[in-house]
Amino acid sequence: MAPVLDVSNLGIRFGGLQALDDFNIQVAGREIVGLIGPNGAGKTTVFNLLTNVYHPSGGGIKLTGLDTRGKPTHQVTRHGIARTFQNIRLFKSLSVIDNVKIALHNSMNYSVLAACLRLFSYWKQEKAAEKTALELLSMFDMEGSAEAPAGSLPYGAQRRLEIVRALATNPKVLLLDEPAAGMNPSETAELMRTIHDVRDKFGVSIILIEHDMSLVMGICERILVLNYGLIIAQGTPDEIRNNPLVIEAYLGSRKEA
Ligand SMILES: Nc1ncnc2c1ncn2[C@@H]1O[C@H](COP(=O)(O)OP(=O)(O)OP(=O)(O)O)[C@@H](O)[C@H]1O
Ligand SMILES: [Mg+2]
Repeated sequence: MAPVLDVSNLGIRFGGLQALDDFNIQVAGREIVGLIGPNGAGKTTVFNLLTNVYHPSGGGIKLTGLDTRGKPTHQVTRHGIARTFQNIRLFKSLSVIDNVKIALHNSMNYSVLAACLRLFSYWKQEKAAEKTALELLSMFDMEGSAEAPAGSLPYGAQRRLEIVRALATNPKVLLLDEPAAGMNPSETAELMRTIHDVRDKFGVSIILIEHDMSLVMGICERILVLNYGLIIAQGTPDEIRNNPLVIEAYLGSRKEA
């Protein structure tokens, strides 16, 4: 089976800093892959490259066989890659359901003219969007907060809403950047179950950046370790846990969570 995501020799320099070098990864359908490493290792940079927020100095990315090089981020999203951010990015004063509907609009096809004229096709799609948004929210036990301002949700729920918004774009690959950051242990345990459910229900592949080792080790089938922009190890959670290079990279860094 061809990989859903096939990344070869990806790299980027920022001035004198080689933030990522010779990065390779193939992700199969429905796989959950962990991406770990100390602060500044290049993890978020990988996501920024995969979504063309940054343009690589070299290398290639194929998403379900399509070469995404040079394509704008919104097109890459449409082709099936969605992400959450290390710092929560929601429309905090808008309602929870409107946050989801805005993300859903990405995959809708009514024209701006239809929207302005409030044509039947527009209303039909709006109704469908409402229904889909509520269905998505209910999978995360959030339908009861649909009308609340997103900014009023507890922190863990805001993180979950980010995942709902990413799923609303109907991705094949979901990139999660530290989804458990700032969560307490019970929220983190709940999130682990949610991520598993998301994979099972939506059939997506997931790349998970996370400092919380219990989360990473608990749900990833495979883990890649970055340090100073280079993959220093990859393998199963057990292999990674016992890898001396990984232990050294983490002990050598004073800043990791
Ligand atoms: N736009 C940019 N311009 C210059 N340097 C950058 C830029 N983006 C990232 N970097 C640098 O690239 C390196 C990797 O950053 P990145 O954000 O990918 O790290 P990270 O592994 O996600 O770290 P953390 O765990 O702290 O989130 C860092 O040294 C960072 O300062
Ligand atoms: Mg980061």
